[in-house]
Amino acid sequence: MTDLTAVSTGRLPDRDRVRRIVDDAHARFAGVDEGRVADYIPALASADPGLFGLSMVAVDGASHDVGDTDHPFSIQSISKAFVYALVCQDLGHDEVLRRIGVDGTGLPFDSVMALELNRGAPMNPMVNAGALATTSLVAGGWEAVVDGLSAFAGRRLEVDEGVYASEAATNRRNQAIARLLQSYGTIYADPLETTDVYTRQCSLLVTTHDLGVMAATLADGGVNPITHERVVDAAVCLDVLAALATAGLYEQSGQWLATIGLPGKSGVSGGIITIAPGKGGLATFSPPLDVAGNSVRGRLATHHLSQALGLNIFASAPHPDHG
Ligand code: DON
Repeated sequence: MTDLTAVSTGRLPDRDRVRRIVDDAHARFAGVDEGRVADYIPALASADPGLFGLSMVAVDGASHDVGDTDHPFSIQSISKAFVYALVCQDLGHDEVLRRIGVDGTGLPFDSVMALELNRGAPMNPMVNAGALATTSLVAGGWEAVVDGLSAFAGRRLEVDEGVYASEAATNRRNQAIARLLQSYGTIYADPLETTDVYTRQCSLLVTTHDLGVMAATLADGGVNPITHERVVDAAVCLDVLAALATAGLYEQSGQWLATIGLPGKSGVSGGIITIAPGKGGLATFSPPLDVAGNSVRGRLATHHLSQALGLNIFASAPHPDHG
């Protein structure tokens, strides 16, 4: 059983200061025009590169949104964090670590080679092999996925049928990964049906504000700070945040942790969630991505906010007696 007696300490600055700092972060990075909008899913290529939203949701339910935070976009890989949470809730820590794993691959998120190099072990739930294996473990299939992610968001989420159709028509690589998992016995439902559920989960529409609430639920020991519904156990949040720390930003996960010092998860549509345990959830949305597939403005704004709000989980100060 995970020991929950030791919890993250510290607080967010007061609400006015949070508002000022988040507003400032938006103004600072809105003009950055580096990166490229993802186009390997045809329906994503038409995203407006100028969209930029920031949402900070504290565990006490206070939220601050700036920019395009009501604009709906498909959640993409960020869904992996929440589907993993549902599976951790059902199966428990030991079984999930045994079946999925939690170590980085050092390879791109859709790598087939990672699976071959690791003899069919999915490695972690944030790369596609691990995400497909995770989705195959959801008791209750698609209905449970959409119910669970909606509980994290605190409202009923809907699929973007255009994005779903576009990805379903082009997701041969994910089908191949699911088949390869099947050949190793490391997927736990029909591979093509699993790929379909995974494609649907990636196509769920969210806003930046929704993602802030979802991230804040992971920061709040599994209770949605807006609806007050317990979505998952507190111990599940530990498992999810550890998986995000090791692999949430793919090959850049180490750099992310070394500069931002918080677990996070990105998606190819341009969203990033970041979780400050015991404090709150931060969500950013800006479609242009860097070479690893992470939102450029999102990464810059999150780095700035982690420092300005004092969120880095590795930061400590000497005991007062030590000067
Ligand atoms: O598997 C895929 O290709 C997408 N539906 C999700 C990819 C994704 O968001 C990767 N993230 N950075």
